Amino acid sequence: MNIILLGPPGAGKGTQAKILQERYHVGQIATGDMLRGEVKAGTELGKIAKSVMEAGELVSDDLIINMLRNRLAQDDCRHGFILDGFPRTVPQAEALDAMLAAEKQDLRAVILLKVDEDVLVERIAGRFTCAQCGTGYHDSMHPTAKAGVCDKCGSTEFTRRPDDNPVTVKQRFTAYNRQTAPIVPYYQGRHIYYEVDGMADMDDVTVAIEAALRAAGIPAPVAMSAD
Ligand code: AP5
Repeated sequence: MNIILLGPPGAGKGTQAKILQERYHVGQIATGDMLRGEVKAGTELGKIAKSVMEAGELVSDDLIINMLRNRLAQDDCRHGFILDGFPRTVPQAEALDAMLAAEKQDLRAVILLKVDEDVLVERIAGRFTCAQCGTGYHDSMHPTAKAGVCDKCGSTEFTRRPDDNPVTVKQRFTAYNRQTAPIVPYYQGRHIYYEVDGMADMDDVTVAIEAALRAAGIPAPVAMSAD
C-alpha cells in the first residue's frame, strides 16, 4: 500500500498518518519531521533547512527528493508507505512517480484532507507535541487526559514548533497555495484520487480515509486476536 496524504498546514496529515501506520503496519514518511530531525542533529541539510522552514518556505526539490529516495530504501517501507508532507511541488510528484516506476511499484491512493483556512489557523495555534514519544495534542481539541502528562508515555515535557507562529503560518499557507495546491490537478485525473472532509472529528476522518482506501482496493487490516 503506497499512499499519499495531501492537505494544507494543520489539515491533520500527521495525525492521520500515525493512526494509519499503526493499523496498516507500513512506513510513515513525514518529510517535515525528517527535516526537523536534521535541524536538531545539526547536519548540513539541517543547517540549510532551518532558515527555510523558519521562513515558512519550501526546502529545495533536489534536497527533498534525495532525502526521500534514501528514506524509501529503508526496511519499514518494504510493504508500503504513507507519505505525509511529500510531494509538495509538481517536480516532487514527478520524481516520486519515476522512483516508483523504477521499482515497478505504483501509488494506490492519494487522499486530500479538506479543511477551511480559519480552522487550520486555530489548530496550528494550539498544537503541541510530547518531547519524548512525539504524540501530538491540541490545547482545546485534543488535550492530554491528565494536564501536563503525555497519555502515551507519561512524559511531562512537551514542545511547540517554531514555525507555528502567526507570521510563519501565513507564509506556509502562501507556499501551500502557490506551490502545493497545483499538484491536486496532477493527481485528480487518476482513479486513485480521493477527497475527505478533514473538518470532521478525528475518528470520523480516519473512518472516511479507510473508506477511500477500501475503494482503492486496500482492505481494512484484520484485527489481531488476543489468543
Ligand atoms: P510539515 O511538518 O509537513 O508541516 P505542514 O505541512 O505545514 O503540516 P503540519 O505538520 O503543520 O500539519 P498536519 O497536516 O500534519 O496537521 P496535524 O496532524 O499536526 O512541514 C514543515 C516545513 O518543512 C514546511 O513548511 C517546509 O519548510 C518543510 N518541508 C516539509 N516537507 C517538504 C517538502 N516535501 N518539500 C519542501 N519543503 C518541505 O494537526 C494539526 C493540529 O490539529 C494538531 O494539534 C491536531 O491534534 C489537530 N487535529 C488534527 N486533526 C483534527 C481533527 N480532525 N479535528 C480537530 N483537531 C484536529
